Amino acid sequence: MSPRDATSLAVERLSVLEAEGELARLATEIAEHDRRYHGEDAPTISDAAYDALRQRNADIERRFPQLIRPDSPSHAVGFAPAGAFEPVTHSRPMLSLENAFSDGDAGEFEQSIRRFLALPDDAPVAFVAEPKIDGLAVTLRYERGRLIQAATRGDGLVGEDVTRNVETIADIPRRLAGPDVPETVDVRGEIYMSRAAFLALNEAQAAAGQKPFANPRNAAAGSLRQLDPGITRSRPLSFWAYAWGDVVPAPTGLHADMLTRFAAWGLPVNPLIRVCSGIAETLVFYRDLGAERASLPYEIDGAVYKVNRLDWQQRLGLRSRAPRWAIAHKFPAEQAQTTVERIDIQVGRTGSLTPVARLAPVGVGGVIVTNATLHNEFEIARKDVRVGDTVIVQRAGDVIPQVVSVVLERRPADAVAFVFPDHCPVCGAHAAQEEGEAVRRCSGGLTCAAQAVERLRHFVSRDAFDIEGLGEKQVRAFWEAGLVRGPADIFTLEARDGDLDTPLARREGWGETSARNLFAAIASKRTIAMERFLFALGIRHVGQNNARLLARHYGALAPFRAAMAAAEERGGEAYGDLDNISGIGPVVAEAVVDFFAEPHNRTVVADLAAILSVEDFVQPLSTSPVTGKTVVFTGTLERMTRDEAKARAEALGAKVAGSVSKKTDIVIAGPGAGSKLAKAAELGVQTLTEDEWLALIEGA
Ligand code: IVH
Repeated sequence: MSPRDATSLAVERLSVLEAEGELARLATEIAEHDRRYHGEDAPTISDAAYDALRQRNADIERRFPQLIRPDSPSHAVGFAPAGAFEPVTHSRPMLSLENAFSDGDAGEFEQSIRRFLALPDDAPVAFVAEPKIDGLAVTLRYERGRLIQAATRGDGLVGEDVTRNVETIADIPRRLAGPDVPETVDVRGEIYMSRAAFLALNEAQAAAGQKPFANPRNAAAGSLRQLDPGITRSRPLSFWAYAWGDVVPAPTGLHADMLTRFAAWGLPVNPLIRVCSGIAETLVFYRDLGAERASLPYEIDGAVYKVNRLDWQQRLGLRSRAPRWAIAHKFPAEQAQTTVERIDIQVGRTGSLTPVARLAPVGVGGVIVTNATLHNEFEIARKDVRVGDTVIVQRAGDVIPQVVSVVLERRPADAVAFVFPDHCPVCGAHAAQEEGEAVRRCSGGLTCAAQAVERLRHFVSRDAFDIEGLGEKQVRAFWEAGLVRGPADIFTLEARDGDLDTPLARREGWGETSARNLFAAIASKRTIAMERFLFALGIRHVGQNNARLLARHYGALAPFRAAMAAAEERGGEAYGDLDNISGIGPVVAEAVVDFFAEPHNRTVVADLAAILSVEDFVQPLSTSPVTGKTVVFTGTLERMTRDEAKARAEALGAKVAGSVSKKTDIVIAGPGAGSKLAKAAELGVQTLTEDEWLALIEGA
């Protein structure tokens, strides 16, 4: 008997074998249609027929969950969900900059360079001083002179592919010209919108009944991240080149030389850039720039100083977020006066009660401000901010606007001091201050809707799981409907959908396509980098930076969880190990251990670990001979300072420890080494001289 044709059989009549065959067929067919539709813009079936294929696949999977394929179309996003760009891993991280807010900070920057490089006090350190453009950073990859890819900064390691959109920007050459164009070069710089283009765009937005952009930077970012490059083309964007990533052959000499080469290749380089013989000269540049700021046709928010010598840049290297060889010297925050209409209390994901001043709208530095943080009850009391008061507000860069002070002469006679609540305004639970803390916290935990929703919102946010289509509004609605009460529920949403009285597609604000896109976006995040996972958990004091330090130290989720369980014993080895991670202080260590000591949090992590694939941390420089090794420096180093030695070792993926133990792999001993060298000998740990160490890492 020949097998029957399963393709037209109703799902409930399929045998296990037939179902397995059908799932295989559907996976291949759907992938092929995805390719035709999205890759070639040439679909060969109707949308309805395509939807029917996906529906059949989902129905079979629901009946035979044990047969779900690793390449199932409901897991793999065969196409980028609406609103998404393809991810691009940067050749080198795209860094941010440390900030200097005063001349003193800038002077300290120069001193720190001297100390790090062990330069004498009178040795000149030349800088390139540049305007700090208020736009968004992009990286442009040119191979043999041709622009082949453009990406946004993203989280600094992985950005978004915006090549098609960047190709519409007239300032950016598709080809680099000239005899010395490198084989490959990642040009980095800022895409921005001129003030004139911004004003014209907002007029057009208003005429079309659309929301205006708050400032030129938002307008530039919004215009670049358009799914339709035609829209980007219609928005006049500009570009300045100021840095680079990978370049083959690698440039030598001076930063200023490279900028000269950029200009010769046809890239726009800002004409205000100046070479300065030392910090004193950069401060003159800063004042001149400040005087010129208002008349420039584009917005800047400060100056950037970069060490001119590239060999020194190389030696100075990077901290986790920013290079040691550059700093942003910000212009002072802009201020304005307005009145406080109300004081609201917001409840954050850790239960913190934050007072927010609702203000009569006022323009501050080109942005309309209607809210400003009042930080905590002590700050309200210290500044004595009252409803009805006239206040001075300021904003600097990206930070939340702040209330600086009250204009007492303008206080209304009936203004009364603000009484801070001792109960959570959302759930009513008692809100108390912990010892030594300024912040009052709601004691309702996850029974408090505000905390639960805030945690979920953080979990899906851009730097965490980055689930497209799942923002605050949707999270709140899912929580209120009881559909998602914890992070793991997000990943079971699709499987539960069929059993719901009202499936997602029939709920208010949703349709077939948006529901499908959401499920696809969720499914695409079932595999997640460890540092994102840790950040998403919302542990107090664990931002992106600390999440990366933890991921790097523990390497994978399982040993991390085991270590956190062991670290509950504060005096023990596991706790010492955590506390010892360079960059993780005692406050962070306490917060992490406290988080894992809470049974509810352990359940959340266990539930997630069971359904997700959390990737092991990938050392960025896996080719180095010292990657993953624990090293200890002891005695006097003669070829570099201790800071430089430590930074270099860490940049190569080694862990630098302060004491020798059985976990130590290498001890680098200079003259005068004492007890640590003896301990190394006792434990049989490899010891190297400084020169041997340098030979080992040379070229890495
Ligand atoms: S250099 C490793 N130069 O400022 C050096 N950045 O606050 C990385 N920016 O992410 C950046 N003008 O988006 C550099 N002349 C300039 C800049 C500049 C604006 C932006 C850039 C960066 C941010 C850091």
